[in-house]
Amino acid sequence: MSKERSSFTGKLGFVLAAAGSAVGLGNIWRFPYLAAKYGGGTFLLVYIVLSVTFGFSLMVAEIALGRKTQLSAIEAFRSLDKRFTFVGVLSAIVPALILPYYSVIGGWVTKYLAGFISGQAHAMSQGTYFQDYIARVGEPLFWFAIFIGVTALIVLFGVQKGIEKVSKFMMPVLVVLISFVAVYTVCTMEGAWEGVLYYITPDFSKFSLMTVVAAMGQLFYSMSLAMGIMITFGSYMKKDISIASSAKQIAVFDTGVAFLAGLMIIPAVFAFSGGDKSALGQGPGLMFVTLPKVFDAMPGGRWIGIAFFLLVLLAALTSAISLMETVVSSFQDKLKMGRKTSCLVVLGISLLLGAPSSLGYSLLKAVRPLGMEVLDFFDFISNNVLMPLIALVTCVFVGYVLKPKTVIDEVSVSGPFKQKNLFSVVIRYVAPVCILLILISSVLNAFKIIEI
Ligand code: TRP
Repeated sequence: MSKERSSFTGKLGFVLAAAGSAVGLGNIWRFPYLAAKYGGGTFLLVYIVLSVTFGFSLMVAEIALGRKTQLSAIEAFRSLDKRFTFVGVLSAIVPALILPYYSVIGGWVTKYLAGFISGQAHAMSQGTYFQDYIARVGEPLFWFAIFIGVTALIVLFGVQKGIEKVSKFMMPVLVVLISFVAVYTVCTMEGAWEGVLYYITPDFSKFSLMTVVAAMGQLFYSMSLAMGIMITFGSYMKKDISIASSAKQIAVFDTGVAFLAGLMIIPAVFAFSGGDKSALGQGPGLMFVTLPKVFDAMPGGRWIGIAFFLLVLLAALTSAISLMETVVSSFQDKLKMGRKTSCLVVLGISLLLGAPSSLGYSLLKAVRPLGMEVLDFFDFISNNVLMPLIALVTCVFVGYVLKPKTVIDEVSVSGPFKQKNLFSVVIRYVAPVCILLILISSVLNAFKIIEI
């Protein structure tokens, strides 16, 4: 099958597009709450080590597979080795699982933006506002439907390009705003410095296997790895663009944004909790509980709040669009559906799968799969089970079936691959062994067979 593929114009175009899809709620919402929960500096250190080794190597491998085959995930694996088609199929399932609950969080962001616009900045910073909000039935469902509906409309009418242009322009603004809020908190709020220390100083008494499990799941999620996305991106990449240096830049940028988001949220948690450490373990609500308090304490905080939630909404929307686009195109290819039908079917499935995640804090409070909230359950299955599994098989495939040389050759087409020895060792030995151990322990832990 030979198909003309349009491609990104230059390296900057490629890096920006990939980073645009990678930077999203994962960096701003998910990373800070995990870092707070799993030991601050300890989590940060583990994450950075994983990102320059595993993250970088896996990203290089995926982009190279895509560029070599000029195909998207399922077909790429099939064309290289029929026995590994299933990896492509599994990778296509992950975004379909992520999109629904991602949109539930997107709905929370939209609600907070609407709240700041309509002048409820102060009310939203009080007491248990967030917990009370998600414990309602209709309103969170409403905002979730709006978020996924807008995403579907954009995909349906094919206007992603326009949105992506806007978001590329906004991303630097978001980074500046996050830095500003972080500096403001640290410089003006009592107790915040203690939070900075907690965030950047590793404390090995806090180290546990669970820290590594959480950091690795976060790595895959945040860099959009192990779900075929980077394979698709690679298939649109021109031969003269360096894969190694693009992967490095995407990884550094993505990790940088996550680091800053943590710096904006964790010190603020310390400042507002008066030293109560249990505030760190709140989980998914952390950003929504903490930031309105920060904005409320700032002069002009309402406007900063509007700007912040608007920018986060855009980042979330571009990620959701890219997730939906992936699912829609798998449906089109595999089930031979038209684009419109496929879009509507994906919207329907996402509404059905997302509603329980939204209702898990209210109507379905009693439903606790594996002892988790419904939203956490979807998050766990995709990030801590399916993605490590896909990453593991990808490493085995590249390391032993295809051989690292195939990827190294593809990378070397566009310039020297300085990290090729690191790459081979990580792909063949370090990554498979570590991922396997982590996968086993996280699954056993979830089923309460062992405690980690
Ligand atoms: N990386 C995105 C984030 O940090 C989330 C995400 C995961 C994603 N997989 C994706 C985005 C695939 C686009 C495409 O928020």
